[in-house]
Amino acid sequence: MTKPLLQLALDHTSLPEALEAVKVLHPYIDIIESGTILCVSEGMKAVRELRTLYPDHILVCDLKVADAGEMLANEAFNAGANWMTVICAAPLATMASAQKVAAARNCEIQIELFGHWTIEDAKEWVKLGITQAIYHRGRDAQASGQTWGQKDLDLMKQLSDVGIQLSVTGGITPEDLHLFCDISVKAFIAGRALAQAPDPAESIDAIWGE
Ligand code: 5RP
Repeated sequence: MTKPLLQLALDHTSLPEALEAVKVLHPYIDIIESGTILCVSEGMKAVRELRTLYPDHILVCDLKVADAGEMLANEAFNAGANWMTVICAAPLATMASAQKVAAARNCEIQIELFGHWTIEDAKEWVKLGITQAIYHRGRDAQASGQTWGQKDLDLMKQLSDVGIQLSVTGGITPEDLHLFCDISVKAFIAGRALAQAPDPAESIDAIWGE
């Protein structure tokens, strides 16, 4: 299996604070994410600024779009994002319109997997040309005690089998990574474990050291 990419999720409410975090961490990461919290707080300005400062990184705009797929995909990609997220509960029509914009611009849509969805849904996303999803343990679910389990790993394998490339996120720490050793993971997405680490370089090493 190829080594997964590492994605830094910027979930700050202030763009200057997000930029401070990425300034330290950008040499160690493959993908920069303007997180939902940052997008809501600072708007597409955050995505534009990140694109200007880091032209060579893959840039994700984590809007978790539920409607207006075409319009929001244009906003995200005009600002410089390569990938944009759409929530799994969105209607297929929203996924299709976002995917049409993405495909025309050589960009990609990622489906955010929260709450209720099925493998049959995933097959429909693949039919639209969507090949990426993010397997997500939500912040609130994590705070209420939800842990990673065999059910998650089984679903991840089933998603891979239907042609979905998976990123994994949700309070990921170095101690969690061994759980996913048999899963084909495109990227691990870490926010707090990196951005709030007392020594970010040490945390990167703990996550990514051989
Ligand atoms: C929250 C998100 C976060 O960006 C993602 O879960 C990574 O953050 P953390 O590692 O801090 O959980 O999408 O909805």
